[in-house]
Amino acid sequence: MSVSIRQIHPVFVGEVSGIDIARPLSRDEVAAVEAGMDRYAVLLFRDQKVTDEQQMAFSLNFGVLEDTRGGNITKPEDRRLPVGMGDVSNLGRDGQPMDRASRQRLFNLGNMLWHSDSSFRAIPAKYSLLSARVVNPVGGNTEFADMRAAYDALDDKTKREVQDLICSHSQIFSRGILGFTDFTDAERVKWAPVRQRLVRKHPRTGRLSLYLSAHAGGIEGWPVPEARAFLRDLTEHATQRKFVYAHAWRPHDLVMWDNRVTMHRARRYDHTQVRDMRRTTLTNEVSSLEQAP
Ligand SMILES: [Fe+2]
Repeated sequence: MSVSIRQIHPVFVGEVSGIDIARPLSRDEVAAVEAGMDRYAVLLFRDQKVTDEQQMAFSLNFGVLEDTRGGNITKPEDRRLPVGMGDVSNLGRDGQPMDRASRQRLFNLGNMLWHSDSSFRAIPAKYSLLSARVVNPVGGNTEFADMRAAYDALDDKTKREVQDLICSHSQIFSRGILGFTDFTDAERVKWAPVRQRLVRKHPRTGRLSLYLSAHAGGIEGWPVPEARAFLRDLTEHATQRKFVYAHAWRPHDLVMWDNRVTMHRARRYDHTQVRDMRRTTLTNEVSSLEQAP
């Protein structure tokens, strides 16, 4: 069986068939998936019943796992999943949906804002891979937006204006948008803003893209309200429906996306029922500052 990819959205997103990601991949299969990522930025693999170990092994074909520590407010003793797995569920360690007022749950609601994973880290994410183990019966789509198409559609004046801007990103900014502001002093230190380019160049394809995220709360050299108004305008432009794919999850879907060239957000679901989604994340290994156009 050979890998084939069918585009399922007018500007990006491919559905992959002819591959079993629970098994070790051949070099040709890895190359086909990488080429698909370069072209489509988001790949969907249906019916992939994987364990955490298999998901991590598959992910490692495409880079180095991010050290996910420090990305969340969850205490190590409250973690549900092994090291290397990101918990994007609504479940506590007891396997039950978290209380509505749970601090962890309210923090995680930041995932409903358009963002790029780990843009709040000095070295941000390359690919994320999200596996649907238990799908919530109500809502819970994940939406993706193509930041290459969004960049291409800017007028020339705006392209020149954004070309060399540097933004500051922090989880404090994104959570603050939702009114989540009760951070500890240690969290404020841990999530001090980091610098990211607003326009970056993909290392393999050379395509330029907007690097936006809810974590972006400022532009160097700009007054804060003006920067935030501009970032909001750009985000509105970049998330027009023509650039957006909405993924309705089926059990055992795995979706893999390139955070360097896309944004995504989770949509509402029934918080009293289980949603078990598990993420592996690959580090970009270098700063976006090193990916200038
Ligand atoms: Fe995310």
